[in-house]
Amino acid sequence: MAKQASQQSTSEETLERTVSENGIKVTIKSNHLSPGKTNSFFNPKMRQNRELVLCSLATFAGESDGPLECLDAFGATGIMGLQWAKHCNVRVVISDINEESTNLIKHNCRENKMNVKGDDDVSENPCIEVVTCDVNVLMHQRAFDF
Ligand SMILES: C[S@@+](CC[C@H](N)C(=O)[O-])C[C@H]1O[C@@H](n2cnc3c(N)ncnc32)[C@H](O)[C@@H]1O
Repeated sequence: MAKQASQQSTSEETLERTVSENGIKVTIKSNHLSPGKTNSFFNPKMRQNRELVLCSLATFAGESDGPLECLDAFGATGIMGLQWAKHCNVRVVISDINEESTNLIKHNCRENKMNVKGDDDVSENPCIEVVTCDVNVLMHQRAFDF
């Protein structure tokens, strides 16, 4: 895995940009470091944490008989669940309580050539389910392996 996250401008520098991490690009918006001020929270300092989770899942998935059902419960940009879908043979659900965040997650899925469940496109690419829901409710409704 590359050591440094790369950042590049997309449209207006202060409003929107793209961040790359472990083969996944996500759009983030201004104030992405301030949870109270953004719907696209992204903390670059948590990269190592995301990588530890990714490595743990890769090991777990490798030992599993069938595809695991995995929940990235606090999706924000979708950066973590998107990495799971790209690097591990697992089924991924990404949820967030905030609809603006789940709209951004869907955008980031499509930008990374992942299908969003419910889309008409039925290509061979991995399909991610994006859910707008309080995780306390979601985890009472459905069981996940990871
Ligand atoms: C700290 S950010 C997640 C960071 C992300 N996992 C990453 O690695 O960049 C927290 C996100 O959780 C969402 N959130 C907060 N409470 C929630 C809840 N009860 N259920 C679902 N999502 C929630 C917020 O809307 C926010 O987008």
